This record gives sequence, structure tokens and C-alpha cells, in this order.
Amino acid sequence: MSGRKIQIFDTTLRDGEQVPGCKLNTPEKVEIARKLERLGVDVIEAGFPISSPGDFKSVVEIAKAVTDPIVCGLSRAVEKDIETAAEALKYAKRPRIHTGIGTSDSHIKHKFNATREQIIERAVAAVKYAKSFVEDVEFYAEDAGRTDNEYLARVCEAVVAAGATVLNIPDTTGYCLPHEYGAKIKYLYENVKGIDTKAILSTHCHNDLGLATANSIEGVINGAGQIECTINGIGERAGNTSLEEVVMIMRQHPYLNLITGIDCKMLYPISQLVSEKMQMFVQPNKAIVGANAFAHSSGIHQDGVIKNRETYEIIDPADVGVDQSLIVLTARSGRAALAYRAHKIGYTLTKDALDEVYGQFLIVADHKKEIHDTDIHELMRNVNIEL
Ligand code: KIV
Ligand code: ZN
Repeated sequence: MSGRKIQIFDTTLRDGEQVPGCKLNTPEKVEIARKLERLGVDVIEAGFPISSPGDFKSVVEIAKAVTDPIVCGLSRAVEKDIETAAEALKYAKRPRIHTGIGTSDSHIKHKFNATREQIIERAVAAVKYAKSFVEDVEFYAEDAGRTDNEYLARVCEAVVAAGATVLNIPDTTGYCLPHEYGAKIKYLYENVKGIDTKAILSTHCHNDLGLATANSIEGVINGAGQIECTINGIGERAGNTSLEEVVMIMRQHPYLNLITGIDCKMLYPISQLVSEKMQMFVQPNKAIVGANAFAHSSGIHQDGVIKNRETYEIIDPADVGVDQSLIVLTARSGRAALAYRAHKIGYTLTKDALDEVYGQFLIVADHKKEIHDTDIHELMRNVNIEL
């Protein structure tokens, strides 16, 4: 397959793990990192090494455990953070330090009590310092979503000149609309010297308004070369961009001409692993990996899917590692679905028999959330027909 390759930067183990109550220990993180490597992510953000001894250790062990992906450690634009990240990454085959600072007026004033020029100086100093340890330095402009584009471009240009290889443009508060975020990336793509020759742009979107996926896609359409995301879209507050969603959007829309190195058949298994380890259940209607993502319960849809899966499915469940589509029997189901399910468990119904069983089925189904195979066996015992 050809197209522009988009780097998938997974931050499940750093931004994702910032979910309250979802802390993982080092062996659990290493297990997930190994799975992420098999999934085919380009970058694993393994943690924020200065944040705790446990996180430092996790970054060290992940750096030792994986070989293909770049292993990245987060740091603020602070020398001690950068030194600690470099130390944690010393076993990584391909280390990256991810450093940065807030660039919106609100961050500059309230977090740093500084001026715009002072922020540029600190950003440049941080990148130069990180560069003294590793070749690959990603810079994040925190709250870029609410940073004025002209100033943001100046920050980006200064850090690229200082050696940054990736420019992360986070919509930290999940505030941007897709067309605004896309326009921001386009503006930077067209106005920052060194884009694509020295550094690529990266999206990092939060989901406070449910727009993280749409914003990330607008970002890559407008020139970004990397998407930062998490498995199941986990992360602080409403979460981060969901890896499985952006990957499948690019795959299902080939005319976008954007490709990734992800082995899509692993999407469902890794979603389950992360959910289990973090004890964070996946909402049933979650796109791609939710329990209902390939389940059909209304009569019209079931009839269509039974005739041809593509009438109501845009993805073959097997492509994302899900065994099969589900025909769920409820009071909204029609005869076709009942006949289909009954056939699967051994009953071939004539038209008259189906009419009779269906009448009884509706009476039972009106009092239950879902009809299971045991209910169908029971129905067959109770109706007075020849099968
Ligand atoms: O959302 C954000 O701004 C971040 C940065 C620390 C990269 O997670
Ligand atoms: Zn974030």
C-alpha cells in the first residue's frame, strides 16, 4: 500500500495512565509496551521519568524490552527533568526526549509569570539541553490549541533551529474545532522554516468536546506527520485521541492517501488488554473496539446484515481482531434474525413455524433486555409446532 506514512505515537503509558485509579506497575507496563511494539506503533511514550521512582523504573524497563519503536520520555523544560529523562532512556535503542512548555497567554501569565520572549528562550534552552543527550528531541507547546498562531510559529521556528525533530501541537484542553485545529496545523506547515526537512508536526488532541479524533485527522490532512494517541482513547478528563479510531479512519478512507504501520488485527486484543490491566471498562458503543461496535439489534438492520454484512458494516470485524458480527435478539428484532439465530443452534423453521415462534418470542422479549440461546430452546419446547 502506498501513501504518506503517518507516525503513530502511543502515549497510553504516559498521558493515558494519568486517568485517576488506572495506575500500572512496571511489569504491566512492560507487557503493554511489548504488545504496542507488535501492534506496530512508531513511538511509545513510556512515562514521565522525573515524576516518581516507579515511573523512572518503568521507562528504564520498557527501553530495555522493546527494540523497534522509538522510546520516549516526557520532561518539562527544566534541566533536572531532562537529565532524568536522558538517564531513564539510556538503554533505549532509539531514545527520544519529549520536552516543552506552555505557550498560550494564559499559561505564560498564570503558570510562568513570564513574557512571550522569555518562554521562547526557555523552550530553546530546553531543546538544546535535551539535544546534548539524544539526537531525537520532540518539543511540545502546551496549550497550543489556545495559542495565537503567529506566536506559535515563532516558538516552533526557534526550537527547530535549536534542533527539535518533532513539533507537538497539543490541544491540551480539547477546545479547538476541527476546522480551527486543521487551520492551525496548515499555518504552521506553511510558515515554519524547516518543516519536513528538519522536523515534522505532531497532533496531540484531548477529547473534552468529543473532537479529539476529528481534530487529529484534520491535523494530518493539513500536514502533520504524527498522531499522538492512546488505546481506547484513555487519558485525563475525557481522554486523548483514540488510536484505533484514527488508524481505522485512515485505512477505511484510502483517498486520504495516509497510511500507518499498524497491524489492525491486533486492535481489539490490545484494547482488551489495556482495559483489563487498567480496570477501565470500554464503553459498549465505543467505535471499533466497543462490545456493540459490530452488534446489530433492530429488525431492519439485522435483516440487512444477514443478507449482506456490508449493508450496515463499514469494517469487517475480522480486520480489527473481532471474531464476528453479533445478531443480538431483542424485542426490536425481526423474523429474519430469529430464524438466523435459531438455525445457528439447530432449528430449521418453516414459514408457519417461524410465525408461531416469533409471536411467542415477542411476548418474552418485551420483558427481557436480550434473548439468549437458552431462551430460544425454551421457546421451542413451549410452542406447539412441527419443526
Ligand atoms: O496535553 C498536553 O499538552 C500534554 C503535553 C504534556 C504533551 O500532554
Ligand atoms: Zn496530553
